[in-house]
Amino acid sequence: EKAGHRHFMGKEIHEQPQTLSGVLSRYIEGDRIVLPTDYDFSATDRIQMVACGTAQIACSVAKYWFEALARLPAEVDIASEYRYREGPVGIDTTALFVSQSGETADTLAALRYARGKARAILSVVNVVESSIARDSDIIYPIHAGVEVGVASTKAFVNQLAVLLCLAIAAGVQRGEIDAQREAELVAGLKLLPGLMSQGLTIEERCEALASRLSEASDILFLGRGPMYPMAHEGALKLKEISYIHAEAYASGELKHGPIALVDRTLPVVVFAPMDPLFEKTVSNMQEVMAREGQVLLVTDADGAKQASDGVWEVLVMPRIDPVFAPILYALPAQLLAYHTAVHKGTDVDQPRNLAKSVTVE
Ligand code: F6R
Repeated sequence: EKAGHRHFMGKEIHEQPQTLSGVLSRYIEGDRIVLPTDYDFSATDRIQMVACGTAQIACSVAKYWFEALARLPAEVDIASEYRYREGPVGIDTTALFVSQSGETADTLAALRYARGKARAILSVVNVVESSIARDSDIIYPIHAGVEVGVASTKAFVNQLAVLLCLAIAAGVQRGEIDAQREAELVAGLKLLPGLMSQGLTIEERCEALASRLSEASDILFLGRGPMYPMAHEGALKLKEISYIHAEAYASGELKHGPIALVDRTLPVVVFAPMDPLFEKTVSNMQEVMAREGQVLLVTDADGAKQASDGVWEVLVMPRIDPVFAPILYALPAQLLAYHTAVHKGTDVDQPRNLAKSVTVE
């Protein structure tokens, strides 16, 4: 049932081109985004997204999409904080809950807090026969199939895909995206599964880097813009399955504290696809190198050409339109953690102290 893979997590990482293509086919018709259930994003003045763990990281990426593509103010909360904060939920607010299992206790409680206050309760779930799905006004399924590995991989990628489709639909409804731009975005989405397949070819390099990474006691992940939450995804995956301490920082925050940690023993993973923020991220990366930090740059061929001097290692990803880069860059986040854990010999599919579905608070 692991289809020739050593672990379910490895199998699920490799399934992603197919599972991504599967979910996109449910949200795309021709050159348009068509949601399985309509929701009017032009009649809402903000979106509050609430989730736990990796699902919360997907929301943090989606914040950039909702704000940039749909000009819709977006907030992201950790469910365990949101449920007790007694924050205001305006009648024009759309509340959106993201959960693979649909059973996470804090996310469900947060949903019940927002019920009767928000304009509508939307949820992005994998398990459609779940408590969160049942208590929502509208569900947007992610169609990832059963995910066995405790560390979420294909569900995370499909959460991102659905959230991006929602942001594009919102942009169209709110007059921020015209038909031509929508068609361009849809064309970009259709390229993604192929780019994911190509991206999987970094696996050999990740395997080769694993012995060095597994010696580290701490690893820092840096990124800007939507690559900042992706840095969180890299750090979370690594902590969960390899038990190595990792932290994520927005590149621009480095000099406000964490740069004090940098010395020759610290691997620093930098997510920097070629995008308008590339040069800013690279200048932060050079500050790390000036203090002998060991930089692992994750970029594309253009980025590698411009910024490889003096870095410890480069992982070269396929070139991609920056809008879609977070989905593709889930691969290095997953593969670095996976191979480091395999090298260390930890229980990749059932990491200590963790459960697939957290039904207690
Ligand atoms: C991390 C991971 C967890 C879950 C979190 C929420 O790889 O899998 O952080 O994302 O426990 O679970 P769901 O999505 O089921 O609400």
